[in-house]
Amino acid sequence: MMSKRMLLLAGVLLAALAVCVGCREEKVEAPARTELTVGVTESFPPMAFPGEDGTFTGYDIELAREVCKRRGWQLNIKVIEWREMEQYLARGLIDCVWAGCTITDERLERMHFTPGYLRNEQVVVVREDSPYHRFPDLKGKVVSVQAGSTARDALENTPELRGILKEILERSISVGAFQELEDGHADAVVMDFIVANYAIQRDKNPFRILDEGLAPEEYGIGFRKTDAALADEVWSTLLEMAADGTIKRISEKWFGSDLSLVPGFYTKDKR
Ligand code: ARG
Repeated sequence: MMSKRMLLLAGVLLAALAVCVGCREEKVEAPARTELTVGVTESFPPMAFPGEDGTFTGYDIELAREVCKRRGWQLNIKVIEWREMEQYLARGLIDCVWAGCTITDERLERMHFTPGYLRNEQVVVVREDSPYHRFPDLKGKVVSVQAGSTARDALENTPELRGILKEILERSISVGAFQELEDGHADAVVMDFIVANYAIQRDKNPFRILDEGLAPEEYGIGFRKTDAALADEVWSTLLEMAADGTIKRISEKWFGSDLSLVPGFYTKDKR
């Protein structure tokens, strides 16, 4: 049998050990972040797309590269399926979605967004030589959208257009919709103005954007709900980049003028 004294000693030792383990744990800090994995789709010019040499480039990519450089993180780019962005985040395969991602109330339920950094609008794109100029001209026609995109929501919320269409085609690749326009499989595409405008102005595609738009939106960077601190870190770096003129330079390169909403453009208080 252990003597009382030995028991006491054992108890004291155990207690000391516990305190020690406790202080150890307190001192162990979460390992510093060394990389940021950004989710993009295979091609979404001018936001995120493979350049001539195959490496990703674009407005969002240049912003992300500069943010990572300033934070000392390695930037990883991962191609995802747009309609599965939330699963990619949940499974930890990406840290954020940064490729022309619209902030919507629905996404805000399951994701954490930075404030909006760029304005966009859902618009109708047709072939330049087509006879379509106003929504009613698309009666009985076929419209293509990217699966899981806000183009689909915008259409559903525009009954005067949705109601007269014959069919809506959903494609997993956004620029694939342009192909359908060229091939004549679709009469029109509903998509992001930012992307359509670039395709017409810079890439000289024979398309035209109807004057009447569907829905104004803002792009934000989407994170896991639990990563609000990471989102703040990225946003504060963007604020620095806005203050020193870096964002203006990147914006002028891709859009011809400074369209950035950074710093601070808060239209929705939920963010
Ligand atoms: N802005 C639209 C959305 O958020 C379309 C974005 C598509 N982005 C992309 N990288 N394919 O749903």
